Amino acid sequence: MLHPGSLCCNSSHCTWTSSHEMLRPYILKPFHIFQNVSKNTGINNIGRSLRVPPFMASQLPAATTEHQLVSTQDGSSQNTAPQPLQVAKRLEKFKTTIFTQMSSLAIKHGAINLGQGFPNFDGPEFVKEAAIQAIRDGKNQYARGYGIPDLNSAVADRFKKETGLTVDPEKEVTVTSGCTEAIAATILGLINPGDEVILFAPFYDSYEATLSMAGAKIKSVTLKPPNFSIPIDELKSIVSKNTRAILMNTPHNPTGKMFTRDELNVIASLCIEHDVLVFSDEVYDKLAFEMDHISIASLSGMYDRTVTLNSLGKTFSLTGWKIGWAVAPAHLTWGVRQAHSFLTFATSTPMQYAAATALRAPDSYYEELRRDYIAKKTILVEGLESVGFTVYPSSGTYFVVVDHTPFGLENDVAFCEYLIKEVGVVAIPTSVFYLNPEEGKNLVRFTFCKDEGTLRSAVERMKEKLLKK
Ligand SMILES: Cc1ncc(COP(=O)(O)O)c(C=O)c1O
Repeated sequence: MLHPGSLCCNSSHCTWTSSHEMLRPYILKPFHIFQNVSKNTGINNIGRSLRVPPFMASQLPAATTEHQLVSTQDGSSQNTAPQPLQVAKRLEKFKTTIFTQMSSLAIKHGAINLGQGFPNFDGPEFVKEAAIQAIRDGKNQYARGYGIPDLNSAVADRFKKETGLTVDPEKEVTVTSGCTEAIAATILGLINPGDEVILFAPFYDSYEATLSMAGAKIKSVTLKPPNFSIPIDELKSIVSKNTRAILMNTPHNPTGKMFTRDELNVIASLCIEHDVLVFSDEVYDKLAFEMDHISIASLSGMYDRTVTLNSLGKTFSLTGWKIGWAVAPAHLTWGVRQAHSFLTFATSTPMQYAAATALRAPDSYYEELRRDYIAKKTILVEGLESVGFTVYPSSGTYFVVVDHTPFGLENDVAFCEYLIKEVGVVAIPTSVFYLNPEEGKNLVRFTFCKDEGTLRSAVERMKEKLLKK
């Protein structure tokens, strides 16, 4: 139910702080990097004063004010003046806060949140009960580093059911803290500084940041509207003997595109020809609406060069649990586990027990999930069309991308700020998902992983207040 002034519903997990997706520091992009900076505090804000890029904000001299002098236990005063922000060079460009700005604006304006990719409804009872039972049963100490045996087996069983491939749960499955950690362990465990890695833009935000941490050289090909197909010739032109890996995501966030068998065949033959690895992020595999999801690992000759990445969060509406996994042949699993051992070592024990229960859900669970999401998608897509957006087709995920230009705002960030402040709805600017942000300036992303009332209210607000220019 929608409560006036709340973000979207009154559910306890529906807060701005519960999703890493929105609050993670975002990439600094040239055409909208000018933030307002309060000179006194040196902290970026949506204030009114000085317009400088955020990276300069961190270098502004920080003035001391009375409030920054606090007493210590021995009664002396200590200067708590903010220090210039510090960050290692490899992450320097990721520290701006476009989404944090959106978040504070959203709270201030009581906006309905169709931005963050997490459900505002809860996960299934049988999975929550399994977690509670595991805690009561004392499954509360460190788990085995690469996963409790039961979960490794459940992942292997599910992989076999979906791809037809038999994998060894002990040697080819690694349980991680969400897919985010599986991505990081894969990249840090298998990519050397200077290795070239190809992404499909727009891409999920952690890819670029983690590749930067690994010192990789990033190249990208852009999936363009209306159908976001892979530009095959362009892809062929950038794969070479210097390419170490292609990092792909299907169904694809933010566009909802699903890679077709023909496209996957092209990627596969390029990878085989040039001896390239594939890291395939398939967290939305069960949210495939218009066609069947295909794992690239299942294509002939591909399993041996593929790390398949997945997690529990999207499929079971439990994004806060952060249980993920990587499936790969033993020779690649070795690198993934080496990094995983020193990133997190092991993942929450009771949640792993519950995850094993979840993965053994009957087919009817997945069918119902799809039915629910198709209904939500219909409400949002028809609603956005009636508001006047050009809505691009989304075959999978719980996202849909639209062209905002009929409403006359200069770019995606300006549009999203307007939408929050003047209309009371949150969407995500997509320019942050490209190496070249210009490519995303006409597109914004909405999510439909919200209850139907929330989706309808958001559409009503837009119909009422968003006027075509
Ligand atoms: C494409 C993609 N990969 C990975 C993740 C992260 O998954 P997890 O929450 O399991 O770390 C997300 C979350 O939004 C995502 O959209």
